[in-house]
Amino acid sequence: MNPTGAPRKAAESLAPAATTLPQGYIVSKEVFAKEQERIFSSQWLCVGHPTQIGNAGDYFVQEVAGESLIILRDQKRELRAFYNVCRHRGTRLCQDKAGRLRRVIQCPYHAWSYGLDGRLLAAPHMDSVAGFSKSNYSLQPVALRLWEGFIFLNLAQHPEPIGSVFAPLAAKFTHWNLPKLKCARRIEYALKANWKLIFENYSECYHCPLVHPALSKLTPYDSAENDLCEGPFLGGFMPITKGNSLTMSGNACALPVGDIAAEDHHRVFYYSIFPNMLLSLHPDYVMVHQIWPQAPDRTLIFCDWFFHSDAFGRADFLPEDAVAFWDMTNRQDWHVCELSQQGIASRVYSPGPYSPRESIPAAWDREYLSVMVRK
Ligand code: FES
Ligand code: FE
Repeated sequence: MNPTGAPRKAAESLAPAATTLPQGYIVSKEVFAKEQERIFSSQWLCVGHPTQIGNAGDYFVQEVAGESLIILRDQKRELRAFYNVCRHRGTRLCQDKAGRLRRVIQCPYHAWSYGLDGRLLAAPHMDSVAGFSKSNYSLQPVALRLWEGFIFLNLAQHPEPIGSVFAPLAAKFTHWNLPKLKCARRIEYALKANWKLIFENYSECYHCPLVHPALSKLTPYDSAENDLCEGPFLGGFMPITKGNSLTMSGNACALPVGDIAAEDHHRVFYYSIFPNMLLSLHPDYVMVHQIWPQAPDRTLIFCDWFFHSDAFGRADFLPEDAVAFWDMTNRQDWHVCELSQQGIASRVYSPGPYSPRESIPAAWDREYLSVMVRK
């Protein structure tokens, strides 16, 4: 996709070991299963933003590591997440991707009904069953926390506290106003490519001159300055040298998103948040990609565009100017990711050397490998 080629003190060379991943990591079903267990069943994952479920009863369903989960806002306006599994005979409860629940979640099979806080409220004909107590059959909860206003879930029984996971980013994004932004648009993309190729692609702009002629005119491909160069959070900024934002017109398309410093009005920040979030901060909007692996060679991506809530309804609010720009740029990226997938599956593929402008993909791979081998 876009940004960051070299660290702030531009490294002119990389360690000889900095090569792309071996083929098995991109094509193997066994590796995919291990990732689903080690990464997607045990780390904090971004699933959305509270403004997507603004009213009591609003919900959406998200598949995580093969599990269907319900994320909802209950009657007290608390956010909650549950496995989408009836406690009677396991039936899927919510069949739609999103919607609004009345006061209960009713199973479509035998009508067991759960409150939006997960408690079993009604179970027809079960009162005569010896020892049966509704209090033992609440919906199974999933850990849910907010980070910078975004909803994160973790399937682990005892997840690492989200505060310690995100400690390296403490206060880094405060002035971007992220919790108060509102989503104007989502586009879903289904890619024939491994999910890691999307992170690697996002993390360098070596490819920009050829793949993104329009983007390259607005932000020089070799201008990246990274401030996070190792670990689960990686990235930095690129200057916007022409126009005021990354839009089709080159103009800002909304009010500034936050209380950002003067120089940041001419910068775009790109951060990858391991393992499933890409956070792209522009002066007038924030774009978030959620990356959801479906198979070794299949990935689903949700791309959301967020704006200041006061921007909505104003005459100068033109979100499609940003959406169209990134939809075009996204598709350019997805195309080369799919081409990579095809070539990596070849019998002649072997890992290739990363260039000095690919220090961040190399760092992302290191983080990924460290999680995969961690005891
Ligand atoms: Fe849900 Fe029977 S399976 S009520
Ligand atoms: Fe790109």
